[in-house]
Amino acid sequence: MYMTIIVTGGAGFIGSNFVFYMLKKYSNYRIVCMDKLTYAGNLSTLESIMDNKNFRFVKADICDRSAVYKLFEEEKPDIVVNFAAESHVDRSIDNPQIFLQTNIIGTATLMDACRKHGIKRYHQVSTDEVYGDLPLERPDLFFTEKTPLHTSSPYSSSKAGADLLVLSYYRTYGLPVTVSRCSNNYGPYHFPEKLIPLTIVNALNDKPLPVYGKGLNVRDWLYVEDHCKAIDLIIHKGKVGEIYNIGGHNEMRNIDIVKIICKELNKPESLITYVTDRKGHDMRYAIDPTKIHSELGWFPETKFEQGIKKTIKWYLDNHQWWENIISGEYKSYYEKKFNIK
Ligand code: NAD
Ligand code: DAU
Repeated sequence: MYMTIIVTGGAGFIGSNFVFYMLKKYSNYRIVCMDKLTYAGNLSTLESIMDNKNFRFVKADICDRSAVYKLFEEEKPDIVVNFAAESHVDRSIDNPQIFLQTNIIGTATLMDACRKHGIKRYHQVSTDEVYGDLPLERPDLFFTEKTPLHTSSPYSSSKAGADLLVLSYYRTYGLPVTVSRCSNNYGPYHFPEKLIPLTIVNALNDKPLPVYGKGLNVRDWLYVEDHCKAIDLIIHKGKVGEIYNIGGHNEMRNIDIVKIICKELNKPESLITYVTDRKGHDMRYAIDPTKIHSELGWFPETKFEQGIKKTIKWYLDNHQWWENIISGEYKSYYEKKFNIK
């Protein structure tokens, strides 16, 4: 069956991986990427598909009602998958306002367009951070879809606000929505302000590797392609009005991740630099993926040992991509924040 899918935030990390995945898997789908190209959006990422007849890129802000309505009028999408967001916790601590604007108002604007034009599915890409954190001394506890929302940062609060709004559009207007809450992703095209790509890029440049606090915080890492596969399943087979947690039981401490990267790149651990902890820093995230596994048959395919090797190789093979980024706006942000050159 022919489908048109609007993918917002498709010039960012997960959105671009999703666009590539969908174009490869469905030769009869039209994929329309709508992205504002903030500091985190990178059009060079999409260069290889710009001429693909099944692909269209539109630079627009999801908060811009007239631009959003115009695109819906032109494309008459069957499905909308919303990746567009301000995504970095540290930036939300420095400046919450833009997070509320994009993550909440932008989501509402997209859903209003969906109501106006009719849609088969609106999918909201959310995060495990909406559940807050778990204590390190209780490894038996996991986030399920029923875990109460208990956010820590302006970022996670804005994502939780958006989730509630999405579910309210289902109950109030009958909009056919689904929500997914995924754990930490890693893989190609990950912006080098986040732990894994920042560590790879800094290690390659023999620069300090900043570790917040004692490095004992735990994240549940998932290879980005496994996240894309889960979303593909949810938009085609998931039940409307439902939330699906996505995660692969791969909990790791930050310090261990940084040490693995040093080892893989043959760089000394003396590059590790302990820096001031993040305010309100969540201790541990851990997803229980039972629902998506039993209802939709999803399971993660890439083991961390393979995924991290593939990711490091990608950064080694794609110097130009990240060098262009670190020579730009990101660099001054990074220097200002940590006073590390
Ligand atoms: P990212 O920061 O790499 O990309 C975000 C993209 O959205 C960029 O291309 C940016 O230009 C675009 N964008 C930002 N504001 C916009 C606006 N107002 N209008 C249109 N486009 C806009 O983010 P990511 O890591 O790829 O995350 C994508 C989504 O997945 C986010 O919603 C995030 O909350 C969620 N998520 C991320 C992770 C993770 O580990 N990275 C895990 C779970 C969920
Ligand atoms: O859990 C899903 C979330 O994962 C997504 O919703 C967010 O969009 C995404 O950014 C990510 O959030 P985190 O805060 O977990 O990711 P980040 O890479 O910023 O940090 C991972 C851990 O590493 C966290 O405990 C903070 C720590 N850290 C981070 C950076 C950038 C460091 O110790 N040093 C660093 O330089």
